[in-house]
Amino acid sequence: MSKLKQEPKNKTLKFPKEFLWGTATAAHQIEGININSDWWHWEEIGVIKHKSGQACDSYQRYLDDHEIIEKINNNAYRFSIEWARIEPVCGHFDREVMQHYLAVVADLKKRGIKIMLTLHHFTNPEWFANKGGWTSIKSAWYFKRYVTFVAENLGGLVDFWVTINEPEVYADMCYHKAVWPPQEKNNKKALRTYLNMALAHRLVYNFLHKKLKNPQVGFAMNVISFASYRKHRLLELLYVHLADRFFNHSFYDLTKNKHDFLGINYYFRVRLKQRDDSWLPETEGITEGERDKSDVGWVIYPHGIFDVLMDLSDFNLPIYITENGVAAQDDRKREKFIVDHLVEIYHALKAGVDVRGYFHWSLLDNFEWEKGFEAKFGLVDVDLKNFKRTIKPSGELYAKIAKNNAVLGEMRELFE
Ligand code: FCB
Repeated sequence: MSKLKQEPKNKTLKFPKEFLWGTATAAHQIEGININSDWWHWEEIGVIKHKSGQACDSYQRYLDDHEIIEKINNNAYRFSIEWARIEPVCGHFDREVMQHYLAVVADLKKRGIKIMLTLHHFTNPEWFANKGGWTSIKSAWYFKRYVTFVAENLGGLVDFWVTINEPEVYADMCYHKAVWPPQEKNNKKALRTYLNMALAHRLVYNFLHKKLKNPQVGFAMNVISFASYRKHRLLELLYVHLADRFFNHSFYDLTKNKHDFLGINYYFRVRLKQRDDSWLPETEGITEGERDKSDVGWVIYPHGIFDVLMDLSDFNLPIYITENGVAAQDDRKREKFIVDHLVEIYHALKAGVDVRGYFHWSLLDNFEWEKGFEAKFGLVDVDLKNFKRTIKPSGELYAKIAKNNAVLGEMRELFE
């Protein structure tokens, strides 16, 4: 009998040449004092329990952040610019703020770091929120006007444009779960938000393609690996199909042929189970038996990233993992998380999926929305009193991976 041929665990997994190694952040989560945004307002009146305050003070300390990015051998960085700062009053664009972002971008360029710029990452100018936010028929038009100003100033300097971050999460958290501003349970508004965001993406995609030479434009989707609770239940398999179509695919359907790459944020798997008392699915409280969870209760399931990559490879477009990370006080957990997920990405590459880069969420421990500062997603610890940054062991590990463009055998032996 021939021996079973298995890859040794100590094999180093080399990534393709020119692979992008980066991290991702968002303006409101790191910059601080974002006073003209809807989030700030809701934090101030106490509806959101936590206050972002100075956050990581990155608006002032962006050079410190860039230094770390260089130190951990990254060749790319995904971050967002804040619409509420750039257009604090409807139709009034702040040139000083734009000068600031120009300096941020220029410094990254100087360091040879590729720029993935997010134009909308959950927060809005307050004036925009007061006009109905993304439920308004004019929302896409307002967004395009803001992007026009951005493109006039930063146009040639941006390598990748992410128009909107996680439209389905945004619509769900604002108008379905009603946790984020304006905390309104209204499914019609959730749908309108989703459709307006798709329209905004299409408009901005066309505009950037008209205005710039060969821009790379996409958006970042939170892609979930869905699974049935019991494989033999046809109904549960149907839930999986429908959930996948709706959550993972529908925004792509609404924006057909308007993406130059796919941006995938992957965090967890969700299992769908038929309720005991009806034909409807439930997701809560059924995953306790799973192996491992993050500090915020998300099921850690590295193989899921392979699944979603295979699923979305049908688009035949370059794919960037625009976010992937774990909330963990225990940094060892993050180290294992990184290695395990990169091994799965490697397998997807071997299976022919065109993955071009990986952006770990996040560079810094930061303001994690309604969860405040307790959820630690960073490769770098930030002392919230003096804003001193300290690279964690997971950051050192990531630096080594980026430097070698590979997951080394020794890492796999330790963490896989
Ligand atoms: C993603 C968000 C990002 C951060 C991570 C943990 O859904 O895009 O801002 O909150 O989750």
